[in-house]
Amino acid sequence: MSTNSESDYFIDTESAAEMARLIQQDMMITRKMGGPLAEQADPSSFSTVLDLGCGPGGWVLDVAFACPDAEVAGIDISKTMTSYGNARASSQGLHNASFEVMDITKPLAFSDQTFDLVNGRLLVGSLHRTAWSQMIQECFRITRPGGVMRMTELDTSGVTTSPAYNYLDDSAGKFCSDKWTRKGEEGRVEGKRS
Ligand SMILES: C[S@@+](CC[C@H](N)C(=O)[O-])C[C@H]1O[C@@H](n2cnc3c(N)ncnc32)[C@H](O)[C@@H]1O
Repeated sequence: MSTNSESDYFIDTESAAEMARLIQQDMMITRKMGGPLAEQADPSSFSTVLDLGCGPGGWVLDVAFACPDAEVAGIDISKTMTSYGNARASSQGLHNASFEVMDITKPLAFSDQTFDLVNGRLLVGSLHRTAWSQMIQECFRITRPGGVMRMTELDTSGVTTSPAYNYLDDSAGKFCSDKWTRKGEEGRVEGKRS
């Protein structure tokens, strides 16, 4: 992971286990949402699409398959994820999908008004709260007037009667909270964060 990033992601983004987890998670979320762009009236109207923090690229590949006339790009801080995405695009013959390494906490290497749709999913855990403003401004800059910025986050990890799941969920919540707190404190000590 880039060392000068404002990223708050505490998971090793180059890890194969993390990639496997993201592949499963992507399939579940996209299926439950009814497809990669299910709420959009006319997905075929998008010619240029960008996915921020794309992970192994499942969403990008789904959009590239569903919209063969669109150019669909994914960017992620992880070389492992973007290489995997490019390998899958190639093996699936999706020549309209591409992936590159880019840090979304920095100015993005795209011209103004490049994209019809800019997507970001599950980025809350990745970006420090101070990084959002610049990232959203960059999204405005690279999205064409009338284009779509599509942000998806979880508001709950689910409701269940399973004590085991609730225990796991609470533990995961505490783990994340501890990691974020510790990262924030380290950041303050180093003077990187307010
Ligand atoms: C929770 S995953 C979500 C992946 C994908 N958006 C999805 O919904 O399946 C967060 C992703 O953001 C990436 N990431 C974290 N910090 C980043 C940064 N500063 N710039 C670009 N990508 C970043 C991670 O490598 C990881 O792939």
